[in-house]
Amino acid sequence: MAATLIQNIRLLVNTRSTEKPLRGKEMQELPCIPDAYMIIEDGIIAATGSMNELPYREGHFSTVTDASGQLLLPAWCDSHTHLVFPASREEEFIDKIKGLSYAEIAAKGGGILNSAAKLQAMSESDLLNESRKRLDEISRMGTGVVEIKSGYGLTTEGEIRMLRVIKKLKEESPVAIKASFLGAHTYPPAYKENHEGYIRLLTEEMLPLIAGEKLADYIDVFCEEGFFSPEETEKICLAGMAVGLKPRIHANQLHASGGVQTGVKLGAISVDHLESMDEEAVRSLAGSDTIGTLLPTAAFFLRMPYQPARQLIDAGCAIALATDYNPGSSPSGNMNLVAAMSCIQMRMLPEEVINAATLNGAFALELQKDYGSLVAGKKASFILTKQVPGLAYLFYAFGQSHIDKVMLNGEWL
Ligand code: NIG
Ligand code: FE
Repeated sequence: MAATLIQNIRLLVNTRSTEKPLRGKEMQELPCIPDAYMIIEDGIIAATGSMNELPYREGHFSTVTDASGQLLLPAWCDSHTHLVFPASREEEFIDKIKGLSYAEIAAKGGGILNSAAKLQAMSESDLLNESRKRLDEISRMGTGVVEIKSGYGLTTEGEIRMLRVIKKLKEESPVAIKASFLGAHTYPPAYKENHEGYIRLLTEEMLPLIAGEKLADYIDVFCEEGFFSPEETEKICLAGMAVGLKPRIHANQLHASGGVQTGVKLGAISVDHLESMDEEAVRSLAGSDTIGTLLPTAAFFLRMPYQPARQLIDAGCAIALATDYNPGSSPSGNMNLVAAMSCIQMRMLPEEVINAATLNGAFALELQKDYGSLVAGKKASFILTKQVPGLAYLFYAFGQSHIDKVMLNGEWL
């Protein structure tokens, strides 16, 4: 059997397997092997260990890569993106510079509705081509697992078109992908005064079709003032759960309006954003099995306070980090930037950041058996860094690429 050896790895990072997402203090522990090797067979990690215990001679391997001075870390698991979208929205970027808020832009027909209008005019193949470019780009930046949402269709046909594009990407890409149905992203104009009617469309028309074609793994709702109330969120999630879709929710982004508690009550796999937390929301999340997913680049882009990562971790929450890659609030899918910002602006330790952006991200997508850490039996999906002084340097020297090469499922990109 053709086996690949990577040898003399300065530090093999995150060699843990665990049954549950890491929470609270556990997030500071990051098992690593200095001066390590990794053996890869058929796209799977066959063995890892210290160089002085390497069980074979070099001649045994079909390929040998020397990683002296370099770090090897699990590919990023980006558990929250909207990377299938029709086009960028830099016209709104200018409005934002001039002082308009996210809510004000949405109220004047910008925001999600702007993307929804653009999506209606776009063919499935153009949407696929544009989205594929973004996916390729983030994979070269080290992302090996990604969640992608619908939510710019807002019609049955549009939502299904988006989910079919995600399905095609799933089939063709070396990046592991999970799909979420986010028909409840905003109320389309025709249903502005008829929430009941849109919820019926979501639950009685869209959901059965999506479940029938197995187009989604999760159901998502934008639970927010002016969007979907906690009661509406619950109703939509329960309908999704009835057809086998677990909930993951956009919660507490602009207001502390009960989204976190709704997610916890429903047993959501994750509640995401969390810029606007109050004591009750923190307590509720800490006492649950729901993962809190922080999206610092969205806070950065909207000039909002960052998520209270320290408070959440110190309260015992399980935290993941993701990009929220989308044209309105985070036009970047760069997990390296998310990681740096999490250290610099949210005071997360480098070890906590890596755990949140790899293993806990994999848990948030239920892919922890195959991804999220570097242990025998998991997929060989990882980042080989350039020669760097150490782990903290990756996030300290922000805004530049420290990646030498990326391997996904045993293939170098
Ligand atoms: O996660 N908050 C809701 N949805 C996205 C933004 C989508 C958009 O503006 O296009 C988010 O920030
Ligand atoms: Fe989002």
